[in-house]
Amino acid sequence: MKSGELMFKKQEPKKVLSLSNVTFSYNGRPVLKDVNMVVEQGDFLALIGPNGSAKSTLMKIMVGLLKPKKGEVRLFGSDIRYFNNWNRVGYISQNASNINTSFPATVEEVVASGYYTGFGRLFEFKKKKEAVKSTLKLVGISDLSDSLIGQLSGGQRQKVFLAKALVKKPEILFLDEPTTGIDARSQRDFYKLLLELNENQGITVVIITHDIGAAFDTAKRIGCVRDNKVYIHKDIDEVTEGHIAEVLGYKIFKR
Ligand SMILES: Nc1ncnc2c1ncn2[C@@H]1O[C@H](COP(=O)(O)OP(=O)(O)OP(=O)(O)O)[C@@H](O)[C@H]1O
Ligand SMILES: [Mg+2]
Repeated sequence: MKSGELMFKKQEPKKVLSLSNVTFSYNGRPVLKDVNMVVEQGDFLALIGPNGSAKSTLMKIMVGLLKPKKGEVRLFGSDIRYFNNWNRVGYISQNASNINTSFPATVEEVVASGYYTGFGRLFEFKKKKEAVKSTLKLVGISDLSDSLIGQLSGGQRQKVFLAKALVKKPEILFLDEPTTGIDARSQRDFYKLLLELNENQGITVVIITHDIGAAFDTAKRIGCVRDNKVYIHKDIDEVTEGHIAEVLGYKIFKR
């Protein structure tokens, strides 16, 4: 090997998540068939697709909540069946913030519930408090710390659930339609925040959205879920309205 060769060798991007030939069915009815895809470290992947195309099912498989009938899922290099370091993974499910508004918990308590401590680790209490405080600051809701969760606006509540997913400092964040029912400006702010987390904190993002304009503005790659498959475009700049219309069967407007 020539001297210096190693220094200039291009580093291979790390695979954070991979699905190989993943097939899933509900009561014998297939909804995903032989899905193959990879998410690399630092990626920002937006998954789009019609209602009922199995986007949420796909994400539940990615976070280990559903087991594929066939195929393999790997998270951080390990088979998901044996993966146990869930602090590395943040997940916000669809409608996560549709909670009972009379639920008597404060923002601080909800965010703290996302921080895992082992049994008997009293010394972690201080660490937990600090983690909650810094995450509230990161998401820009420190002033809401003592507010009751039921008394917040939809947009504020979304940020609380983002903070709950972030408090354990995950390396990858999975979000299932996090901005549904949120006004346009709050949506933009939310996407801006995700972009900052991706660019400044290096958090890999996988997001399901029906907001194709926001996906174009923010994501690095777009994946279309349709007809039991996932079609991923390599480079966002290569994706055109025509591609999306072809895959989704409907027209979109690129901003
Ligand atoms: N628990 C379940 N039992 C049986 N069928 C289910 C279950 N969950 C989802 N399905 C079906 O699987 C298909 C995919 O559902 P999924 O929720 O993954 O779609 P989606 O793409 O997330 O849709 P949306 O955009 O409406 O959120 C749908 O036909 C749905 O009816
Ligand atoms: Mg869904």
